[in-house]
Amino acid sequence: KMPDMEDIVSLCKRRGIIFPSSEIYNGFAGFYDYGPLGAELKKNIKEAWWKNFVTQREDVVGVDSSIIHNPTTWKSSGHLDGFSDPMVDCKETKLRFRADQIFYAPVILEENGERVGYVCVQEGNDETMVKDAKKQAKALLKEKDMKGSKIEAFAFKEVVEATEEEMAEIPSPASGKPTLTMPRDFNLMFETRVGAAVDSDNIAYLRPETAQGIFINFKNVLGSSRQKIPFGIAQIGKAFRNEITPRNFIFRSREFEQMEVEYFIPPGDDVWPEFHQKWMDDSKDFLLSLGLREDLMGWDVHEGDGLAHYARACTDITFKFPFGEQELMGIAARGNYDLTQHTEGSGKTLDYFDDQTKEKYIPHCIEPSLGVDRLALAIICSAYAEDEIGGEKRNFLKFSPKIAPIKAVVLPLLKNKEALVSTARDIFEKLQQRYNVAWDATGAIGRRYRRADEVGVPFCITVDFETIEDDAGVTIRDRDSTEQIRVPLDEVIPYLSKAIDG
Ligand code: GAP
Repeated sequence: KMPDMEDIVSLCKRRGIIFPSSEIYNGFAGFYDYGPLGAELKKNIKEAWWKNFVTQREDVVGVDSSIIHNPTTWKSSGHLDGFSDPMVDCKETKLRFRADQIFYAPVILEENGERVGYVCVQEGNDETMVKDAKKQAKALLKEKDMKGSKIEAFAFKEVVEATEEEMAEIPSPASGKPTLTMPRDFNLMFETRVGAAVDSDNIAYLRPETAQGIFINFKNVLGSSRQKIPFGIAQIGKAFRNEITPRNFIFRSREFEQMEVEYFIPPGDDVWPEFHQKWMDDSKDFLLSLGLREDLMGWDVHEGDGLAHYARACTDITFKFPFGEQELMGIAARGNYDLTQHTEGSGKTLDYFDDQTKEKYIPHCIEPSLGVDRLALAIICSAYAEDEIGGEKRNFLKFSPKIAPIKAVVLPLLKNKEALVSTARDIFEKLQQRYNVAWDATGAIGRRYRRADEVGVPFCITVDFETIEDDAGVTIRDRDSTEQIRVPLDEVIPYLSKAIDG
């Protein structure tokens, strides 16, 4: 069963996975904090990605570039001129909306057949759109404290979709004038200032993608590693976008993390398709290995207008989130656009000499780009599970052992039996050397199992009287099947390792 977003958001808060950022100051739109479980989950996702695409491959190496680059980087890459979304302002509420969202999903509020106002809602399928419109309209009123104003009188009798033209024409009930400005470009890069001088020369930008930190280091990596084309450079790190309308929890936020590879290949139209296909296959396999539900995954092939100007091809792996099927990651064939742009912008030729064919060329590249936070959301949605045990409903998180925030919980059967507790404590401390594990000594064993299930711990290790009297090992209970097996003490780590480390 697919949970709705409210279930996910409240579960994340309750279990310490994700909190709204600066919550004590009423939050800050588009920013989130990861709690104890979320921080572990995110770390595990990044480690699994790095292991899969960097450590276990000879043809990919990693970098960790600065977040703020020389601002000319963004001139060359095209971000300064082109990384913008069309934005409209609402004259009535002073809120800003991404124009394309409004064009796709405007909603008019009607009362007794008369159009009395509007709300602007996110993309999504029709069903979630209308539901979200109502929710958003209510939230908007609350946020702007519009009680008593005319907008409150809309009463949401009916919501219908409007066209772009209609939206621009809808008059405000208060002023009688159109409520929306015409669209204008809004650059999504966050500006900051570097150094003490207060002039426009010291404006710099927080990177909106990690990719450019790879391109500008192409020659450095080539000159210092023994890589030959084809090879890739990988990076994990924060990216920032001043999204006009951040929404859907961590799906589209203003500060997020990306895991990207630029995989450099020889030029030629017959060369890239095979590499592109291979990266699509490898990306899908990786996502499945983290426990993503295959039935919720899909492909979206960009064609024609849907392609960025630099791309030869781009295919997204999509995921059916509670608010609709959306891009989870993109796998683009970028040609040699970026290295060519940086060659022009810097005056340094970012080319490659093939010592076998004696050819010199600016390499092309394949770029798999995946958001850590977006993947975390897809993983939480995939893990959300409900079943019945002995007639009792159980809500649990089915995290795969590989990325589960807590790998195992150690339970002494009774907390007031010294021998049980000290043996269990020994096991716990041994496990702590390798994994994030938990200790739980209080309450009935069934309750303790339930607590572990709720936070997605794959294994419960129980130390009972047999353990200490007969040295008969421990009981390991599997979260999903709830089956229990007896495992000798010295086999506990190999048993867990098989499931966790693969
Ligand atoms: N270097 C290519 C690039 O940045 P993108 O499609 O803009 O391409 C790649 O972003 C991935 O980064 C997306 O598929 C998504 O997973 C993640 N992402 C992008 N914008 C995001 C945002 N505002 N919040 C969370 N994740 C985002």
